Order: sequence, then C-alpha cells, then structure tokens
Amino acid sequence: MAEISIEDVSFSYEQDRENNFVLKNINYSILPGDSVLLLGPNGSGKTTLLKLIMGLLKPTKGKIKIDNIDTNKLSVFEISKKVSMIFQNPEKQFFAETVREELSFGLKNRGLREEEIKMLVDEVSKKFGLFEYLDRSPFDLSGGEKRRLSIASIAILDPEVLIVDEPTAGLDFQYRNLMVGILREFLKTKNKSLIIATHDIDFGLRIANKAAVIDEGKLIWNGDIVSLLKEEEIFSKGILTHTFASSLISKLILQSNVDFQKVVKGLEELAEGLM
Ligand SMILES: Nc1ncnc2c1ncn2[C@@H]1O[C@H](COP(=O)(O)OP(=O)(O)OP(=O)(O)O)[C@@H](O)[C@H]1O
Ligand SMILES: [Mg+2]
Repeated sequence: MAEISIEDVSFSYEQDRENNFVLKNINYSILPGDSVLLLGPNGSGKTTLLKLIMGLLKPTKGKIKIDNIDTNKLSVFEISKKVSMIFQNPEKQFFAETVREELSFGLKNRGLREEEIKMLVDEVSKKFGLFEYLDRSPFDLSGGEKRRLSIASIAILDPEVLIVDEPTAGLDFQYRNLMVGILREFLKTKNKSLIIATHDIDFGLRIANKAAVIDEGKLIWNGDIVSLLKEEEIFSKGILTHTFASSLISKLILQSNVDFQKVVKGLEELAEGLM
C-alpha cells in the first residue's frame, strides 16, 4: 500500500516565486493505514497541498514521493492508479453523458473487460443508491445524488490513498452520516489511507486518527487527533475553531481519562436517538 512523503515542499502560483510562497517548507509523511485530517483557515494552502500530491501541480521547491518515486517522474495517470481525489465541487469532476459511463471510465482506462466493468458498475451503483439512474446524465441528478456519484466514481477505482477535499460543505446531517459510513468502510481494508481537508472538525473527529494543521502555508502542528484536542493554544489563537461537540469532547478528555472513541460513539448514539 502506498506511502506518500512530502519533503521540504514549497510552492508558488506566481512567476515572482521567491516572494509568494503559498506553501512553505512542508515536511510530512502519510503512511499506509493513516487517516489524516488536514486543517487550517481559509486560504492556508490545504487544497494546494492536495493538488501537489495528485501531481496536478508541481512543487516549486522540494519533492513529493509516492512509494519512494518522485512525483515529478510520474504522470497524473500513473499517480491516479494509487491516489484518487474527490473534489469539493462534484460537477467539476463529471464529463460523461451517462452515470454508467461516468462510473466505467476509469475502469476502461485500466483495461478491465466489458463484463467485469458491468459487474462492478452494477454493484457500486446499488451501494450508492444510483442504480436506477445509470442511463441518466450526471448533470440531471440532485445535489446529493451528484455527490454520491462523485464519491462512487472514485470508490469504484478502489485507490490505495483516498483524498477528499471539503466532503461535507453544505450537506445535511443525513448525508454527513452517509459520508462517515462510506469513509469508515473504505478504511476497513487494511493499510488504505485517507486524507480529508475540512473545516468540519466534528465530521473529521469521527473518522481520522491523525491531524495536520496548516496556517499561512506552514505546517504548524501534526500529531494524533486526541493530542490535537488537548492542544488549547491552536484553538485559543483562533487558527482552528471549536464547535460545540469538539469543545465538549476536548473538555471531557482533558478533565477526565475517558476514552476518545467511546465519547465519539456515545455522542453519535445520542444524535441518532434524537433524530
Ligand atoms: N490558481 C491559483 N492561482 C493563484 N493563487 C491561488 C490559486 N489557487 C489558490 N491560490 C491562492 O493560494 C492560497 C491557498 O489556497 P488554497 O485553495 O490552497 O487554500 P485552502 O486552505 O484550501 O482554503 P479553503 O479552506 O478556503 O478551501 C490562497 O491565498 C489562494 O488565494
Ligand atoms: Mg480548499
């Protein structure tokens, strides 16, 4: 399974490179089995870092390696065999005329046989509640259905590393829960890894076991999720903002020795009971 190492990476979108680094000297590794929450204020550089990992942008300085191979030496297609990204705006991802074609495209590229593709498309479309829409245009789906298709078209490729940018923006409670379920299911396969860039810390806490915090292009903190919740300074300085649930969890684990996973499970059950 894939290991990603980000080695002293700086990046600038501008020609005037020396003065305008959007990312500055980032060092970080994502190991097989990691589930990392990438956090930071608007404009801090999260999406830029994800695009660099995907090979859609190239580091201005430093290197990104996937399984020890410099991504500068790999094509976007080669990278996409191991790492797949679900973009924030699903419509940007779609290009096919039907949901079936959208789901089949990556599999065709990989050279799978017609029958294998049909079987996988049927299976995945049923799982994501899209089976009855297979002949419809992706653009004629509802907002929630488009989201499900964008995830399904990546899930069907079964990547080793899954990257999700702002998975819950504008989504209701029910869809959030569906997303939690899908990502947890993905992580059940040993050594798969997940990177989630989000402002939705409550959502992230339910899935991730690690966190990395970027502020103004610098990686200012990384560690496990429980340690992040004990890190009061990041929150008091306003780099990250607590929600009601995250501040409650943080207080509980700081003041008593309760188990983080148990607290999250308890809150999930409570929320479920209230629905
Ligand atoms: N294509 C681009 N050209 C020039 N500057 C860009 C481009 N895309 C992003 N930027 C700038 O790079 C910085 C980092 O943007 P990025 O989208 O990576 O932030 P982010 O952490 O994902 O923010 P958000 O939380 O709002 O999604 C911002 O200052 C942004 O204005
Ligand atoms: Mg972003």
